[in-house]
Amino acid sequence: MTTKAEPNVDESVIAVRGNGPLAGSVTVPGAKNSVLKLMAATLLTDGTFEITNVPAIADVTIMGDLLDAIGVAIERPTPDRLLLTDSGDLTPVAPYELVERIRASINVLGPLLARCGHVRLSLPGGDDFGARPIDMHVAGLEAMGATFKFSHGYLEAFADRLHGADITFDFPSVGATENLLTAAVLADGRTTIDNAAREPEIADLCEFLVAMGAQISGVGTSTLVIDGVRADELGAVSHHTVPDRIQAATYLAAVAVAGGELVIEAGRPEHMAMLLERFAEMGLDITVTSDRSGDRMRVVAPERLRSIDIATLPYPGIATDYKPLIITMLAVADGVGIVTENLYPGRFRYVEELQRLGADVRTSGHHAVVRGVPRLSGAPVRAHDIRAGAAMVVAGLAAEGETEITGVHHIDRGYDDLVGRLAAVGAQIQRR
Ligand code: EPU
Repeated sequence: MTTKAEPNVDESVIAVRGNGPLAGSVTVPGAKNSVLKLMAATLLTDGTFEITNVPAIADVTIMGDLLDAIGVAIERPTPDRLLLTDSGDLTPVAPYELVERIRASINVLGPLLARCGHVRLSLPGGDDFGARPIDMHVAGLEAMGATFKFSHGYLEAFADRLHGADITFDFPSVGATENLLTAAVLADGRTTIDNAAREPEIADLCEFLVAMGAQISGVGTSTLVIDGVRADELGAVSHHTVPDRIQAATYLAAVAVAGGELVIEAGRPEHMAMLLERFAEMGLDITVTSDRSGDRMRVVAPERLRSIDIATLPYPGIATDYKPLIITMLAVADGVGIVTENLYPGRFRYVEELQRLGADVRTSGHHAVVRGVPRLSGAPVRAHDIRAGAAMVVAGLAAEGETEITGVHHIDRGYDDLVGRLAAVGAQIQRR
């Protein structure tokens, strides 16, 4: 990439004031959790790939740096367009300095192993919300003939040629599904992945791979069947990244707590169906319309939100990444809501920050009980991860006085100009 992401931490802060209703329209950018996987999948074959609808987020820059270190040349003619040229001269090594900065670096494992027969990858660390093991990635690739060695914080994987296998996951892991799927594209024979994750970003990856020449059936379902092909049967493609349902939900949550009316453009409401149903139960009036230019959601906030109980689950359930936003909405809703986290039991750390803003939230194990208060009160708070950071911004919209958010570099990892987009619809928000 032309400009490398700076590893030193950005000390800027976001200051936000709850100053009344929002009005206007917000365009949803492409999904972080798709584009990073599409970028990794370019390791499967030679050629120049084009990815459009790329969000302007730090993780794209970091993934670009990682691919650059492996041997893929990256150009970004405009912020939303990437050109990735894989000339086949790859060094299948992912060093610690880059892997530790981005969880999705694990996604190079499957394609590199399938293409090069060998990978050396620094082991990805945990996140602020808990350990993030890769045992399912490893067991699945072992079933396909890979052998692994772990030492000095690195994993090394070897396979002359991976072979097809029947794999049934205990749990539909997003990352493990993606790694086995991309590896299986170049394996010898048929691979079946049962209980596969079926997030829209995985269907987007499947569409990218199929356009390249991969043989995949069951796209969008929990059983993926992949018939392996040779690298020279694949070709580079151009692909438009699926829109980001988590960023879209952030603007829904913003108008829900600030009041007013927003039009959310370029999202995919069908990818957020269950969330939209639950938001409607909380009192949001959401109308979906479609025309040739795409889908739009018109969202009108109620006088006050109503509390509901909610549990996170793999897609099509309510995503764990929505949860900090939902807890923030419940913090100012009428009544009591119980939130159950079924993916990452430790993903409640931001609750302490919400409490600093006057939220009445108690956690016990993987449950949170949220008693709504009419209004929060502004205070300095910290973003501990991407989604928690966005929730702090949304909480600031529901708070009297100023909320100053530090740890903004977390938000930059996954949000494309959150401050600019909110300011454009009337939020009193600035970065300084
Ligand atoms: N798990 C294992 N073993 C494995 C893999 C996963 O035990 O080998 C467990 C995890 O510890 C976790 C659960 O399974 O408890 C879910 O993990 P999954 O593999 O599905 O998640 P992921 O691929 O690591 C992606 C997103 C996360 C999102 C989760 C769940 C990316 C880069 N990350 O992570 O997004 O929360 O799926 O939907 O796609 C974010 O964007 O901020 C983010 C954290």
